[in-house]
Amino acid sequence: MTTYELQQEILRLKKEKNACILAHSYQGHDVLEIADICGDSFRLSQAAAQVDAPLFIVCGVHFMAETVKLLSPEKKVILAHPQAGCPMAEQFGPEEVLAFRKENPDAAVVCYVNTTAALKAVCDVCVTSSSAVNIVKKMTQKKILFIPDCHLGAYVASHVPDKEIVLWNGGCPIHAGATKEDVARVKAAHPNAKLLVHPECLPEVVEQADMVGSTADILKYARQSTAKEFIIGTEISIAEHLSFECPEKVFYPMWPKLQCADMRLTTLPDVHRALLGTGGLVMEMEAGQMAQARRCIDAMIRLG
Ligand code: 13P
Ligand code: SF4
Repeated sequence: MTTYELQQEILRLKKEKNACILAHSYQGHDVLEIADICGDSFRLSQAAAQVDAPLFIVCGVHFMAETVKLLSPEKKVILAHPQAGCPMAEQFGPEEVLAFRKENPDAAVVCYVNTTAALKAVCDVCVTSSSAVNIVKKMTQKKILFIPDCHLGAYVASHVPDKEIVLWNGGCPIHAGATKEDVARVKAAHPNAKLLVHPECLPEVVEQADMVGSTADILKYARQSTAKEFIIGTEISIAEHLSFECPEKVFYPMWPKLQCADMRLTTLPDVHRALLGTGGLVMEMEAGQMAQARRCIDAMIRLG
């Protein structure tokens, strides 16, 4: 089967099963083409709460499918590639948070959506990269533990100086790999380009950016800007998608190694198998933990 034929078969099956395909913007172009909803983590979780379909196929990583299941517990949710995970999501466990809570009863615990449901279950609210600053600003507590990403946490802290933000040593190993020397190199090669950066990057990189935002914010900024050249400081798929979408503009990856192996696992055959019911990972969670984790996501939707 050619790629086109497989896409047509997926679209036919999707209609037959009344399924909704959610794809994170880091997915390949062939997967984005057959998706109903594409976007950043926040958009995908919003869609999961709003779209009425009996079956969701998630093209992204494990925590994204978990979030969809938490928001639509009565629906069947399948992660298209069963091994696609986010290494950052597993960096801390609930025990460490519970110990912090015991020692800091007045503090709030805010977790990035890139976390397991077990961790969300012991936090107060979760945030995405596009909603983190706004949500933390709205918290009534003065002291806040922000986990797991200390770089996103540092970015939030710089925008909310009246709060005491406690950070632990976690983060995205892919975004945190780019250094100020990488930025200096790419800026020297393209001095007129605007630098657009994801807040998971190191502060020394974020400091130099013309714009800092989630994958959706970066896409929107690049589409709307009158500038002609951009350096894209997030997963290199975003530079590829933008080059395709805006052929009159030029997009340079900030660092060629900014590639998330987990996000790249999902292929069209995975989506096809998930729709047929012969592949993927069917999301299932224990009811008590689901209710606790859901509280954390509901707080995000309410405050975001
Ligand atoms: P977004 O919130 O921009 O979707 O980021 C998710 C992610 O995993 C970035 O690495
Ligand atoms: Fe996780 Fe980083 Fe991959 Fe995003 S890019 S899914 S944060 S490892």
